[in-house]
Amino acid sequence: MLKIKNLNVYYGGIHAVKDVSIHVPEGKIVTLIGANGAGKSSTIRAISGLLKHTSGEVVYNGAGNANLLKKTPEEIVRSGVVMCPEGRRILPHLTVEENLRLGAYIRTDKDGVEKDIDWVYELFPRLKERSWQKGGTLSGGEQQMLAVGRALMSRPNVIMLDEPSLGLAPLLVREVFDIIEEINAQGKTVLLVEQNAFAALKIAHYAYVLEVGAVSLEGPGQELLADPRVKEAYLGG
Ligand SMILES: Nc1ncnc2c1ncn2[C@@H]1O[C@H](COP(=O)(O)OP(=O)(O)OP(=O)(O)O)[C@@H](O)[C@H]1O
Ligand SMILES: [Mg+2]
Repeated sequence: MLKIKNLNVYYGGIHAVKDVSIHVPEGKIVTLIGANGAGKSSTIRAISGLLKHTSGEVVYNGAGNANLLKKTPEEIVRSGVVMCPEGRRILPHLTVEENLRLGAYIRTDKDGVEKDIDWVYELFPRLKERSWQKGGTLSGGEQQMLAVGRALMSRPNVIMLDEPSLGLAPLLVREVFDIIEEINAQGKTVLLVEQNAFAALKIAHYAYVLEVGAVSLEGPGQELLADPRVKEAYLGG
């Protein structure tokens, strides 16, 4: 579905992503784990069309094998690939529901949008309870849920999540990961960027470890969970 081939990202003289190749098969959860600064966000920001200095190929089957690196961010969202950015970038002065509707800005199917609002509220009953609350007054965890819900409102085939568990209490991390599994069970393909390697590997069909910009290890989530190198470096020994 999504094939990233020899992706490179540069910021001025910094070579942040080095020949990264990742395959995200349709209907699967693929995770990208790694330490701070490993290049995880840069990778999915490049796939989203947000970075200028890139090379390589991002082939997306759903859009006639086009290289996403040559498309604009809006074209990429329209083709069905959406990112939920790091750090809960919701609009604080708009209500929960207004934030969700913004996620559907590319859509013209009004009935479909209404259905999807209901669907997001089913996934996140807390958002439904707070539909009229301003985004900025939500708790951190609720804002994270809103960010995920908003990304879903574009009706993507592939959703890329940048550290959805960042800063959440353990119980809420569990809840967010359960919802990611649920979204996947309902047919969405997921590319999950995480520092919480344990939680991510547990739900991932396949995983890649990024180290200083390059893939250092890859394999099925369960295999990497048991890998001594992963245990040592990312799971606290
Ligand atoms: N706009 C930028 N200008 C210059 N350097 C950048 C920029 N954005 C990222 N970098 C650098 O690129 C490298 C990779 O950053 P990136 O944000 O992709 O890492 P990450 O794996 O997402 O880390 P984290 O887990 O901390 O979010 C880092 O060394 C970072 O300092
Ligand atoms: Mg990051």
